Amino acid sequence: MSIIRYVTGKTKLLGVIGNPISHSISPELHNTLSNYMGIDAVYVPFKVEREKLGDAVRGLKALNFKGFNITIPHKSNVIEYLDELSREASFIGAVNTVKIIENKLYGYNTDVDGFVNSFKEEAGTGFTNKKVAIIGAGGAARAIAIGVANEGAQKIFIINRTLSKAIQIRDIIISNIMPYKECPENIESFQLNDSACTEVLKLADIIINTTSIGMHPDIDCMPVPEHVEFNSNQIVYDAIYNPSKTKFLQQAENKGCKIINGLGMLIYQGIKAYEIWMDITVPKEIAREIFNEFKNYLT
Ligand code: ATR
Repeated sequence: MSIIRYVTGKTKLLGVIGNPISHSISPELHNTLSNYMGIDAVYVPFKVEREKLGDAVRGLKALNFKGFNITIPHKSNVIEYLDELSREASFIGAVNTVKIIENKLYGYNTDVDGFVNSFKEEAGTGFTNKKVAIIGAGGAARAIAIGVANEGAQKIFIINRTLSKAIQIRDIIISNIMPYKECPENIESFQLNDSACTEVLKLADIIINTTSIGMHPDIDCMPVPEHVEFNSNQIVYDAIYNPSKTKFLQQAENKGCKIINGLGMLIYQGIKAYEIWMDITVPKEIAREIFNEFKNYLT
């Protein structure tokens, strides 16, 4: 018999609350991170119903958790139980990470950094002076648009089925993020239709799908009409990671584009959450190694 010592009275406590939660890879990711970083911490998933969300948050605080993640469907509803929000979380209106310090709850949204860091890592380039088209205007689109604007894109096009939601994102960015305050014409919103897709997408250096169109099991669907042409200089990104190559990415790859799926965003948003909880920077090489391990693990 051997004594099991991976959780002791000194171990830092972390977790994730959501519903459903059994599919989440966050426990594997964060426990792997603790192992790599040599930090004594344990991360546990909790299935929490909507009406128990307040109890769960108060419970984690009472139990001296260091922090926790929040996933679907609680990312917006959790805000009412928090003491403070980061700028990004309040622009997005959703929190995926909470840090507990001296009995106070601080909410963050790490999707912005997760997207930007993973994109730079995988594309080998950033957004400075690039024209970027974003398809969709939900929570993921907000985070991605904020990241792209923060990083100094030259022009942003937001294309969505419901035009008012695309305009809302444009307005949030113009009121809060430079350089768009000075050049509001550099961010435009469009209704998702045939002409927007053909005209606007051909102007873009980077095209990003943030909708769920094409996600498993609807793998034959595309967020843009099938006849839309890509050109080989474009980088085409899909926030979907299941399947690892959507029809949208496949079509772009056939035209010679560099393609990237959303797995990196998932892993890097988790790494950013871990950095916030532990007040550390995970070295780039370790982040890269963990990302590559998870790529193999999940495919
Ligand atoms: P998330 O938080 O993952 O971004 P979301 O907030 O539900 O999810 O946003 C999903 C986005 O995908 C929305 O922009 C939605 O368009 P609407 O704003 O018009 O609802 C878009 N979307 C989802 N299914 C779609 C479909 N079949 N056709 C066009 N757009 C779709």
